[in-house]
Amino acid sequence: MNIFKFENDEDFVQTGANLVASLLQSNPKAVLGLATGSTPIGVYERLVQMYRKGLVSFAKASSYNLDEYVGLSADHPKSYRSFMNKHLFDHIDIDLSRTHVPDGNAKDLTAECLAYDQRLENEGPVDLQILGIGSNGHIGFNEPDASLTSGTHVVDLLPETREANARFFPSVTDVPMQAITMGVGSILKAQQILLLVRGAEKAEAIRKAVKGPITTQCPASLLQSHPNVMVLLDEGAGQWLK
Ligand code: GLP
Repeated sequence: MNIFKFENDEDFVQTGANLVASLLQSNPKAVLGLATGSTPIGVYERLVQMYRKGLVSFAKASSYNLDEYVGLSADHPKSYRSFMNKHLFDHIDIDLSRTHVPDGNAKDLTAECLAYDQRLENEGPVDLQILGIGSNGHIGFNEPDASLTSGTHVVDLLPETREANARFFPSVTDVPMQAITMGVGSILKAQQILLLVRGAEKAEAIRKAVKGPITTQCPASLLQSHPNVMVLLDEGAGQWLK
């Protein structure tokens, strides 16, 4: 793993955005794996700025998002599809028909998961997968457990995850109980992974992920088995790193 710690936000955000932009410059048809949460927002904002300056184009790219809440329609303001539209897709030249987010409102969730994996199989692999990490070490919505699922699947969200994400909803009771998430196997198929981590509350999770044993109790630790992972940390998240 290549781990970088940044003293200032500007460098953190620019480094993440440059990685995406240089991929698109060398491969305009790149398949991007995208994440939600507060951490990647700065990188998405920077990419929008770079697009407006003519430094990057998404016109031929496609994207696959990691996850979506079960029970929220695409146009629900708190859905991850709405998040992506608001923070990235509405401001760049990507063809919306080539942006993919699991349908958390599908009648048959199992069929939706299988179809998502099939599309990934046909159009993948993902060239660059952006990831955040949960305070409990989750990636996407792959929660710590005795075993992990490889492909896209429905997951019961742990209480700590619903608490952590309550800040995006009126109250914790409004946070959905379940989500669809790409599995760890699908995530690890990406050619390159960019893990973005910010804040002291993530320090222990990311330390365990990169320095601890590879264990399903810290899903992010499975990234140690991937040959091409770049980890960007701010001072808080990287306080344990000299
Ligand atoms: C959610 C998402 C994850 C994300 C995590 C951390 O649980 N499913 O993909 O990494 O939040 O989010 P934040 O960056 O807001 O801390």
